[in-house]
Amino acid sequence: MITNVDFIPQFRRRVLRWARKHGRCGLPWQEDRDPYRLWVAEIMLQQTQVQKVIPYYTRFIAAFPDIYRLAQCEDEVLYYWSGLGYYSRARMLYRSAQIIIQQYGGQLPQCPKKLQDLPGIGRSTAGALLASAFGKKGVILDGNVKRVLSRYHGVFGAPNQCVSLLWQYAEHYTPSRRAARYNQAMMDLGALCCTPRDPDCGHCPLRRDCFCRQNGLQQQLPEKAPPKKMPVRKAYMLIIRNTYGEILLIKRPPRGVWGSLWHFPETNENPEQYCRRTLHFTPSAIEFLPQLHHSFTHFRLEITPVYLSLPTQSFCRKIMECAPIYTAQDCIWYNLQRPHKVGMSAPVTAILKKLSQDET
Ligand code: ADE
Repeated sequence: MITNVDFIPQFRRRVLRWARKHGRCGLPWQEDRDPYRLWVAEIMLQQTQVQKVIPYYTRFIAAFPDIYRLAQCEDEVLYYWSGLGYYSRARMLYRSAQIIIQQYGGQLPQCPKKLQDLPGIGRSTAGALLASAFGKKGVILDGNVKRVLSRYHGVFGAPNQCVSLLWQYAEHYTPSRRAARYNQAMMDLGALCCTPRDPDCGHCPLRRDCFCRQNGLQQQLPEKAPPKKMPVRKAYMLIIRNTYGEILLIKRPPRGVWGSLWHFPETNENPEQYCRRTLHFTPSAIEFLPQLHHSFTHFRLEITPVYLSLPTQSFCRKIMECAPIYTAQDCIWYNLQRPHKVGMSAPVTAILKKLSQDET
């Protein structure tokens, strides 16, 4: 571990001096120290880059200016999250809002254990919030900080095996005072200088003592987990349109991929057969559209959108009653001209956008 504690102030000083000149400033969640806003930002920033988050964050905060508004309607939360990915984060944010209102009077708790007991808040997010929202010594270890510390100290091993050692380093270097400033500096250093593929070692404030820089091992560390073989799954997405031009969407179950989002009915059985068996109708027309692909962390989905027309006008009204697998709350007829404010996955949004463009 760290053998000479004399190096710690020097390490911090170098990182902070670099950040004063090169760090990111003016990010929308840096405007004030409002714990609610910082919490929303930290959840959005999990596994997602700052530039992608900014417009989502701005719209989200405008729609949900406080925790009471956030706790009102899961569908609306998912609507404003649509396109950002990892939707379990949005569901957990919504659940946490209710817990915070019920148990903590609407205020984010300041205790690390209570913070980590909330859905969606792990050790690093709790550390970020303790420091940025409450001015405490909160320690973070996100992907950027892991990379900086792994390279600086030459930490070998698969990322998960190294985690406890990296936490020890992170604890050592994080100052008790103004930890938020240091945390932000470390994240900025990882994101802007000690980048995954092509680090800018010539401008790095830690270059003089960096193990990887000295040994030319920047490309080797941090070690990557061995690539997973991604299974491919196939699915038909059924675009069922009634004679008013509306499209059937159903709400997915809360667990699993795209949980609680609104979707086309999906099957991997023959679409016509599926319609007869499950929805009890035979389509009057059927058309297979070009395939789309979507990658999840653990599999790749090959999507074939299929366009199906309902046979008669009266049938349109009945389909929800006829299809016993759906309940009225789980079905909507989506009108392209008057869209519902509900959460949808990227492929569904893309397909609906294309349909809408084709009509105008
Ligand atoms: N990743 C997680 N939290 C972050 C933050 N506050 N700034 C930049 N990237 C982050």
